[in-house]
Amino acid sequence: MIDVFPIRTQPNTASRLAEQDFDHLEFGKVFSDHMFVVDYRDGEWQDAQILPYGDLTVSPANSALHYGQAIFEGMKAYHQADGSVALFRPLDNWDRLNKSAERMCMPPIPEELFMQGLRELIRLDAGWVPTFAGSSLYIRPFMFATDGFIGVRPSEEYRFVIFTCPVGLYYNKPLRVRFEQKYVRSAEGGAGFAKNAGNYGAAMYPTKLAQQEGYNQLIWTDASEHQYVEESGTMNAIFVIEGRVITPALSTSILDGVTRRSVLALARDMGLTVEERKVSSREIIAALQNGTLEEAFGAGTAATIAPISVIGYEGHDYELPAVGPNAFSKRVGAALDAIRTGEAADPHGWMVGV
Ligand code: COI
Repeated sequence: MIDVFPIRTQPNTASRLAEQDFDHLEFGKVFSDHMFVVDYRDGEWQDAQILPYGDLTVSPANSALHYGQAIFEGMKAYHQADGSVALFRPLDNWDRLNKSAERMCMPPIPEELFMQGLRELIRLDAGWVPTFAGSSLYIRPFMFATDGFIGVRPSEEYRFVIFTCPVGLYYNKPLRVRFEQKYVRSAEGGAGFAKNAGNYGAAMYPTKLAQQEGYNQLIWTDASEHQYVEESGTMNAIFVIEGRVITPALSTSILDGVTRRSVLALARDMGLTVEERKVSSREIIAALQNGTLEEAFGAGTAATIAPISVIGYEGHDYELPAVGPNAFSKRVGAALDAIRTGEAADPHGWMVGV
């Protein structure tokens, strides 16, 4: 590929890699040696650089801090059986980043810039990609407004950054979740489909209340009736009822998750019926009561496949059946892992080498 965007690299002279304890990785606390940084000024992306990971200097008046003009992505790179490193569906994340950018009046990132920055960064920090089962290099691309101006209008200047973190499992046990019927994550016509910072900040308070009640996460319901499932925490929600894989259809209030998309594709490959449609809390509770709900799980990049063991609804906790080795969530999780590590064929062309 021709280098369309020259990237200046300032290598870290004192790698922190040797100090890390890869056996006890906590999600999002350990950062690799370098980060990719590029600025948008005068209508174009310029000064692409790879720098040692570190603090950024920003104007205290930037509109990311005041009005939430900030977006991000979550993606992963995996150590391959042959020793190389490959990215999982990076163009899906690039595409979604630009959809989020459009919704937040931010400039798009050209594909070549995104992919070049990503590839060079991961190649430089390839030693940070963990190799134990279930591990990966979590990649956090993000963009924020940088104008020093507090008028409420889209910024004219932006910064796009990518940093990475070696990670293990996000959740280490099945989740207790409850339907949220008071607070709202996002309404139809809002920005719930975008990965803008405010969606996550505003979810913290209702989530904290649920955690005080002993749940790990919420299952968000729709803003107008509080009846229909939207997402669960930072994941898409997927249910298995009588062998059918059922998940809320995408809308302006639901994130188009890359893991969700991959799980549904693999379910179809396995010959299962997949239903993307409205799913009500009542349907899920009825299926729990009559024994037809076989599985419920969250699907997300950070969380991967996160089984749900308890669902709270109107003050009642409903236990899900134990997940056996042949459960769909187990099979699809294993199939995804095998594709991601290069141990199985990649019929959909999801993996991209760096
Ligand atoms: C991801 O799964 O990558 C997410 O964006 C969730 C994150 C907020 C931890």
